[in-house]
Amino acid sequence: MRDWINQSVKRIEADFQRSADTHLVKLNLPVFAGIDIYLKDESTHPTGSLKHRLARSLFLYALCNGWIKQNTTVVEASSGSTAVSEAYFAQMIGVSFIAVMPTSTARSKIRQIEHYGGQCHFVEKASQVRSESARLADSIDGYFMDQFTYAERATDWRGNNNIAESIFQQMKQEPHPIPHTIVMSAGTGGTSATLGRYFRYRAYPTQLMVVDPENSVFFDYYNTRDASLTSEYGSRIEGIGRPQVEPSFQADVVDRMLQVPDAASIATIHWLEKLIGCKAGASTGTNLWGVFQVAREMQENQQSGSIVTLMCDSGERYLDTYYDESWVAQNIGDLNVYSAQLPPV
Ligand SMILES: Cc1ncc(COP(=O)(O)O)c(C=O)c1O
Repeated sequence: MRDWINQSVKRIEADFQRSADTHLVKLNLPVFAGIDIYLKDESTHPTGSLKHRLARSLFLYALCNGWIKQNTTVVEASSGSTAVSEAYFAQMIGVSFIAVMPTSTARSKIRQIEHYGGQCHFVEKASQVRSESARLADSIDGYFMDQFTYAERATDWRGNNNIAESIFQQMKQEPHPIPHTIVMSAGTGGTSATLGRYFRYRAYPTQLMVVDPENSVFFDYYNTRDASLTSEYGSRIEGIGRPQVEPSFQADVVDRMLQVPDAASIATIHWLEKLIGCKAGASTGTNLWGVFQVAREMQENQQSGSIVTLMCDSGERYLDTYYDESWVAQNIGDLNVYSAQLPPV
């Protein structure tokens, strides 16, 4: 058994060795003179999103804990992106994989999971994915990966080329190499936990702003610390916002939170496409809306500096939703009031 574990870890590490880092793109926004805004493009990972990092860490963590063995079926609760990346790593080490996801999950993600040999199992509501995953894993004697619990601890927050270390490394030659603020949204909260811990570990003064969509409990939890909060409806911004407080979300390393209207997130990705010529997923819009809030505050206080956020995934996954005018009109509503507030391009 140890031979199989050794071989599986080696395969994942060799894949990492062959991989390049993701780009840190500087946005050209003259309206914010003296304030430099950067977007770390996580869509360029082989499986298309920031969850590639998490999936690699979760597999290594579970393998080294002895939780995944040669014939284990891995089950995961996901809004899709994590499952795509986990299906990739499951195929790499030769174990079966089942993703438990809401029926509303983008069809392109479902196709990609199946492309990597994974199976999809659907539930009606986002709030059901965890309990259904646990039940399913139990019934087939499989292993429930449980990103919503383990994301915060599977990643080495002290470095080891985690996303925080990579950002600070790539910022080294910029006019303001230590960001004033890094803005991130939360799904598991794993990425925000890594960022917030790393700032403290390295004694950087950088602030962590977490942005939250509608129908998510993270914002209210941050203010009340009531872990029993729930929301009846799932988030409409795929990948972020949760109907219950997830164990992986580490509120104590977050410096501030901002609630972002869903229509503002969608208006922002359409605006971004005009600026950089690429489509991003909706959570990138949530992130950037938070960035502009910070940039305006810095401007009012006559501060200069840098702000960094993430392009979590590409908009090509959402052509039939966030980039479809009639879907947006029906499901999100009018974007004009938010579009009018975005910087001129
Ligand atoms: C598209 C997208 N954006 C953002 C996130 C949030 O990342 P994290 O789970 O690290 O909080 C996710 C997580 O699933 C995601 O899929």
